[in-house]
Amino acid sequence: MLKQVNEKGNLRHLISLDDLDRNLLQNIIDRATKFLELGLGSKDFQKILSGHTVANLFFEPSTRTRASFELAAKKLGADVLNLDVNTSSRIKGESIIDTIYTLESMFVNILIVRDAHTGITEEIARHVSPSVCVLNAGESDTSHPTQGLLDMMTIQNHKKNLDKICVAIVGDIKHSRVAKSVYEILTKFNVAEIRFIGPKELMPDTGFPSAKKILDLKEGIKDADVVMALRIQKERLKESINIPSENEYLSKFGITSNILNLAKPDVILMHPGPMNRNIEIEDSAADGEKSVIREQVTNGVAIRISVLSYISEHISSYK
Ligand code: CP
Repeated sequence: MLKQVNEKGNLRHLISLDDLDRNLLQNIIDRATKFLELGLGSKDFQKILSGHTVANLFFEPSTRTRASFELAAKKLGADVLNLDVNTSSRIKGESIIDTIYTLESMFVNILIVRDAHTGITEEIARHVSPSVCVLNAGESDTSHPTQGLLDMMTIQNHKKNLDKICVAIVGDIKHSRVAKSVYEILTKFNVAEIRFIGPKELMPDTGFPSAKKILDLKEGIKDADVVMALRIQKERLKESINIPSENEYLSKFGITSNILNLAKPDVILMHPGPMNRNIEIEDSAADGEKSVIREQVTNGVAIRISVLSYISEHISSYK
């Protein structure tokens, strides 16, 4: 496996949460919290990435991740290049690695990549020169590491004893990169109970040994401390898959304010976005007092500032 941390212990790439130790992940979250306390409007961080160039390469749609990485890089003083993938030469058949070499030749030194192909961010990281860093901004159905970090930051803001809480993840677990990265960080942080809830067709066939798989929403939500709703990843469904209609899905697996009453009284409701309202989540729940969905978005900016500032330590130690 590719080394994500350099020989000096600095984070160089962020491809997956898999082989990163809990202390480093907690340090990234703690630094994000400090950035938030100092105020994201502060100009004090402008030197951290001054003189460096960040390229946002999003080969799949994004609102939150792309905007927050761009804001984060600008707040740290970087030049930011947003490649328009619809007019890029990849459309003309250029390989992603040739695109990367082209950007490297323009002195881009931080590459933020979202793509539908499993393993692509690691492959890019294997090809770049030593001063270049690669960050995974959501890859296929395999991983979304900064989402895992921002979700853990949000959970820690509300729940102090992780070894006593139950996190219920509801929906299309099988095709969700968010579910995979959140599962990784929940297990690393010794969360007491992880439940996967959804229809059989959207449940992963293998893996996730610590998760309890539950096919009934009411049973799965009961006494949960955290409920995380997930969108059905229509773009990744095979044509042959047999899933409930949208109305049936809402009645069987939709998160409503009534359903949330089965969880603990101080339950928090999360959703990584984008939400499909009134399919996997009802307005009453999404906009209700238990919802921390907007807080997740704010924490996403802070986490991406924090990750980029860790990456800057590799860049300066490399010189
Ligand atoms: N959560 C998430 O990845 O959202 P975007 O697709 O809008 O970036």
